[in-house]
Amino acid sequence: MARFKLFALSVLVPMMAGAHGPQSMEQVEALSDLNLLKVLNIPILAQDTRAGVGYAVLTPEMQEKISKFNHARGRCGGFEVLPPTRGPSVEGRFQELRRLGDQVERDVRWARSGMGRRLEIGKKQDVQEALDKLNEDNLRGFVEWASSFPTRYNKGANANVAVEALAGKIRDMAKALRAPIQIELINHTSTPQKSLMVRVPGNVAPQEVVVIGAHFDSIAGWTGGSRAPGADDNASGSANIFEALRVLLLTGPTARTVEFYWYAGEESGLLGSAEIAKAAKEQKRQIVGVLQLDMTLFPGSGELVIGNMTDFTSAWLRDFLVSANQNYLKAQLVDDQCGYGCSDHASWYRQGFPTLMPFESTFSRSNKAIHTPNDVINAQSNFRHSHVFSKIALLFALELGNNNVRQPY
Ligand code: BES
Ligand code: ZN
Repeated sequence: MARFKLFALSVLVPMMAGAHGPQSMEQVEALSDLNLLKVLNIPILAQDTRAGVGYAVLTPEMQEKISKFNHARGRCGGFEVLPPTRGPSVEGRFQELRRLGDQVERDVRWARSGMGRRLEIGKKQDVQEALDKLNEDNLRGFVEWASSFPTRYNKGANANVAVEALAGKIRDMAKALRAPIQIELINHTSTPQKSLMVRVPGNVAPQEVVVIGAHFDSIAGWTGGSRAPGADDNASGSANIFEALRVLLLTGPTARTVEFYWYAGEESGLLGSAEIAKAAKEQKRQIVGVLQLDMTLFPGSGELVIGNMTDFTSAWLRDFLVSANQNYLKAQLVDDQCGYGCSDHASWYRQGFPTLMPFESTFSRSNKAIHTPNDVINAQSNFRHSHVFSKIALLFALELGNNNVRQPY
């Protein structure tokens, strides 16, 4: 069952040779939805049908073709640019793709096995009390604040204005709550924007880490746009994890360490998270699970109807969400897919870490105003809906943080 296929190097070599030509700056290596590459007749250099992902070197023309096609279908980018690697990288790309396929296969097996019931979390009084401390109005306050910056785009002179303001806000909050946290602005090589990390050290197994993240950057139009409020995409997810952090600081640390990330440059190709996840892999960090919140404010499939994204995510963590929902959330979960690595969870999943991505709606019913100056708080914004995602973030911190569960496969 060798479903992983390497294409003849003769196909590859001329393509790569082109990379040294005058247009080399514009060609990118990318992973993309396999069907998309096939439909658009783009040469696939390697593929894994289990992951549904193809590897291609995209010329500027091909990139435009994919983007146009996807936008016509109401989708966004449709491909993920891979960070450049040093030295002979092609074999490494093949291995990466095969690893991804293996991982998907393990997730699919688990999902089919029905073993998720084994990980049911049950309902606990203290967890419910912590959830009750989450405040819906704080979400509105945060989204108003973040979307009032003209832009949070990752390029340009002002790329870190909002990021630094967020760091200040968190320092103030930690001081007011007298909570010991570590806060770091993370420099990147792929973008001048910084990611922000807040660590709440665990008091029993601090080397084991639960990651909770959201991208903080915004974008509008092809060039980033001077006005990109990004209220839904993604001040909303940023607000949810800020609120979960606030309550975690109130209730005190967990056994495991919890790290909160506001990623840089997601809209330009998952840039910040790609570097962070790669470093975590290289450092062999024990990351138990990674939650990604990206767009939580627009209830396109109905209030409290939540998409449980199944691509680039882990079956056991999706089961965790099902159990969390039965015990605490009482929302409606619907399995769905982005069809490509649509947010920062894909960066982590690609490095082999377990991930979860609950989403505001099903993919096709999500907010159409994103990536425009109209992604603002409006009559359709629903903070009661978004509030559920603060609960998910806090449950992720408390349930994974105070247990010794880990990926069972
Ligand atoms: N929040 C979006 C992803 C998204 C959009 C998910 C619509 C579901 C429905 C995210 O910020 C984004 O725009 N991602 C990029 C991908 C990236 C690799 C540049 C996209 O979708 O084009
Ligand atoms: Zn976006």
